[in-house]
Amino acid sequence: MNHPSDAALLGASPWWRADAGTCLVIQGGHRLIGTYGVSGAKNAVLPLMVSALLTPHMVTLHNVPASLDVAVLSNLLQRLGVGLSWSSGRGGLSLTLCADRLHPRQIDRSLVARMRASVLLLGALLARCGEACLPMPGGDAIGLRGIDFHVAGLRAMGATVEVQGGLIHATAPNGLRGAEIVLPGPSVGATENLLLAAVLATGTTVIRNAAREPEVTDLADCLSAMGAAIRGTGSDVLQVEGGRTLGGAVHTVMPDRIEMGTIACAAAVTDGVVTMRGVRSELLGAAGPILAAAGVALEAVENGVIARRSPAGLTGVDIQTRPYPGFATDLQAPAMAMLATAAGASAITETIFEQRFRHVDELRKMGAAIRVHGRTAWVRGVDRLTGARVLATDVRAAAALVLAGLGADGETVLDGLDHLDRGYDGMAAKLAACGAVIRRTPVA
Ligand code: EPU
Repeated sequence: MNHPSDAALLGASPWWRADAGTCLVIQGGHRLIGTYGVSGAKNAVLPLMVSALLTPHMVTLHNVPASLDVAVLSNLLQRLGVGLSWSSGRGGLSLTLCADRLHPRQIDRSLVARMRASVLLLGALLARCGEACLPMPGGDAIGLRGIDFHVAGLRAMGATVEVQGGLIHATAPNGLRGAEIVLPGPSVGATENLLLAAVLATGTTVIRNAAREPEVTDLADCLSAMGAAIRGTGSDVLQVEGGRTLGGAVHTVMPDRIEMGTIACAAAVTDGVVTMRGVRSELLGAAGPILAAAGVALEAVENGVIARRSPAGLTGVDIQTRPYPGFATDLQAPAMAMLATAAGASAITETIFEQRFRHVDELRKMGAAIRVHGRTAWVRGVDRLTGARVLATDVRAAAALVLAGLGADGETVLDGLDHLDRGYDGMAAKLAACGAVIRRTPVA
């Protein structure tokens, strides 16, 4: 795959530190004790950045995670003419975007190929400029990941959309108009895309069977702060009174609930005690009680949670991934890494993506006893995992393997760090601050 040059990423996001050619070395068996700073949510910040395309006024985002995905999207937006300005303070990174002089054109294939969320440019550019042309989006190889829901929704709003030769070309010369849209499934990306389009469309749009993920709500909140009229936020029916002129906004990106859940599992695996500020365990939805049943104790404290292993220890549980508020597919791999050393057996069924078990072979290299039958992984807990050289194949697999390495005997070497960097802001350094023995080193 063609990677955007480090210079291009650095130009759009000056905090970006190119770290290609490194691996992560983890000495397992050290308890995590301390305070871990959960970053702004990867899956919230990307649509929030895209929302700035809808207005010529400034949109400022606080709590922006310094991740590779953010760097790539920054570069994409810059090429479209969006002005970006970065600052950092106590609340982490802040980004001000200003799309007062857009010059939309066909978007760089190598950038789009890196990131699924680039498909959101379709709705926003169509709504603002009446036209969008972009290559089919890439992202993690975890399933088919069609865009048919996005396309059908935009067509219902009056757009002409052609998908040919790996390119999506969408036009709406007379603007988009409100429509009644029933999504075939509660797709997060399609809900966000249609929401972005609907706020500038004329008339009312109703999106039924909308995704209820908190990241969708975060986007709706930011759009509302920009002046959009959205009802039903957080429910599966969103109603948008479109056609308003949007102004600027200042918005703080919600905390990353997946990072919170992953670190809670890591605290339990290492028998540590980790405090996470600015997060609420309710954001985990059904994953909260399921992880609790598995032996991950989450205690609510003022402005945060403390995670540790329950006195009874880790026990096997059954998990089925589901749209929010069900158990998040993005927590499936980290939960599996934890359950690999829980007492008893677990059945983990992945219902969202067809190919999201690629971490299983890597966990097996570390001694995990896992068999996959169709969409279910059967996990028999073993006493301990043993360090090995393993490869991250997607963002959440990377986090799962870090977690496995923290709890394993001996040394784990993790390759494929691009995946970790895509979704997490400084995870290794934040773990090291909690006592993990973990370092980046050039690939041998
Ligand atoms: N789907 C279709 N057609 C569509 C859209 C979706 O068939 O037009 C299918 C997908 O193939 C999948 C299911 O519907 O089987 C759900 O996909 P969804 O659209 O909800 O996922 P997404 O928007 O592509 C976002 C996150 C994912 C997360 C899922 C589910 C972002 C950038 N990505 O993806 O995050 O797993 O929602 O919660 O927000 C990750 O962070 O590691 C990650 C993959």
